Amino acid sequence: MHIDIISVVPELLESPFSHSILMRAIDKGLVSLKIHDLRNFGLGNYRQVDDYQFGGGAGMVLMAEPLDQLLTSLTKEQSADAIVYLTPDGETWNQSMANGFSLKERIILICGHYKGIDQRIRDIWVTHEVSIGDYVLSGGELAASVVSDSIIRLIPGVLNDAGSALNDSFQDNLLAPPVYTRPSEFKGHKVPEVLLSGNFSAIEAWREAEALRRTQERRPDLLSD
Ligand code: ADE
Repeated sequence: MHIDIISVVPELLESPFSHSILMRAIDKGLVSLKIHDLRNFGLGNYRQVDDYQFGGGAGMVLMAEPLDQLLTSLTKEQSADAIVYLTPDGETWNQSMANGFSLKERIILICGHYKGIDQRIRDIWVTHEVSIGDYVLSGGELAASVVSDSIIRLIPGVLNDAGSALNDSFQDNLLAPPVYTRPSEFKGHKVPEVLLSGNFSAIEAWREAEALRRTQERRPDLLSD
């Protein structure tokens, strides 16, 4: 898989992909990722990328031309399976969307800033509009990192234990059960006996029951879906 991310603050995207699972996925060649500074396609001597909105109102808008030129150059040799604009008015991202996107070959993510991007880029280029929740971020970079992380960890070979992603919360509309590690007793709190029993079918049954209990308690909406 290849992911291109378009941003006016590319520095915001460096850390998430330079550590831990995502970095290893890149190092292993399971995913390649390129961050593009929109300013390189800015207009004039000042490399302008934003302008006032027509009709007045506070906040700048990312202009159509720099985005159009960058998208044209990115898709010249190979088209993208999805061109995603991160925006609070998009469809709320979830695990099933992450599963679907993990099968794609090439994804382009566009991070908005200020008031967002010129609507014509959305009309002409964007295939998916995605929000990561009902709150407004200062820009799309954190959202692009969240979306990329949730996709990349599903690519076969990225997680050491292949079963691990399948047991994630939401993967079967259930939250994950509690987990414990050593010591078996901590400040008077004991690890549930069954987890120390070595009886794998009993452990599996306990985990399923706990997952269901947690989901009923915390997210009953998932069970009615
Ligand atoms: N940009 C600003 N807020 C956002 C959100 N909630 N989701 C995705 N992109 C955003």
